[in-house]
Amino acid sequence: EDGLHPTAYPWSHNGLLDTFDHASIRRGYQVYREVCAACHSLDRIAWRNLVGVSHTADEARAMAEEVEYQDGPNDAGEMFTRPGKLSDYLPAPYPNEEAARASNAGALPPDLSLIVKARHGGRDYIFSLLTGYVDPPAGVEIRDGMNYNPFFPGGAISMARVLFDGLVEYEDGTPATTSQMAKDVVTFLHWAAEPEHDERKKIGLKAVILFSALTAISLYVKRAKWAGVK
Ligand code: HEM
Repeated sequence: EDGLHPTAYPWSHNGLLDTFDHASIRRGYQVYREVCAACHSLDRIAWRNLVGVSHTADEARAMAEEVEYQDGPNDAGEMFTRPGKLSDYLPAPYPNEEAARASNAGALPPDLSLIVKARHGGRDYIFSLLTGYVDPPAGVEIRDGMNYNPFFPGGAISMARVLFDGLVEYEDGTPATTSQMAKDVVTFLHWAAEPEHDERKKIGLKAVILFSALTAISLYVKRAKWAGVK
């Protein structure tokens, strides 16, 4: 059975020429880090990817250095741990799928790198899912350890509601309501799945300008050349 159809929300980067709201990406990273990263990996994003998008190089380097990474072998053939670097990928919460399932009553929290593209409904679906936890309707039984969410296909999801008003404290003073955090983390996840999004739209604009100019020039030349022929 399909889930409820999500509302089509007016994302500020919806338009053909609209780029991402980078302040929202930055807040969304914070939500990912402080909430989702406890269970979900983001395998395809390295610290350096955040530079110039949501953070400065110094900020990203400092965040990387707070994480310990396995490295090696060194000259003596030993593995060792070292602080993270810009080139490292964001750390995963579990070492493998078995550990992930063991911590989540058998369910697997999917990697979120491409989730916005992988799920039908994309960002509208994920926003609806995060904000859509309600009591099950009369007559619907939800197994122990499962949660009712009408947007999740089947209605019973093993992820509980994770966003509650005031859960994080935004440094820019934005009130961290449930829907604000959901919007920000979805914007962040959309960027993660489509980091070329802004560049794509800028190039699209240039292409439209360039081809319009070329069309205008060729029309002008054609008229000029044929002007004498009646
Ligand atoms: C599933 C997002 C936090 C555990 C999912 C799915 C998404 C998602 C998009 C996939 C739903 C689908 O398959 O259609 C997020 C976001 C979070 C977050 C954005 C932070 C705001 C967490 C946390 C936990 C968790 C903190 C663990 C305590 C799971 C599990 C599933 C899941 C176990 C699999 C559910 C199932 O298949 O029944 N999450 N999640 N998530 N999440 Fe999260």
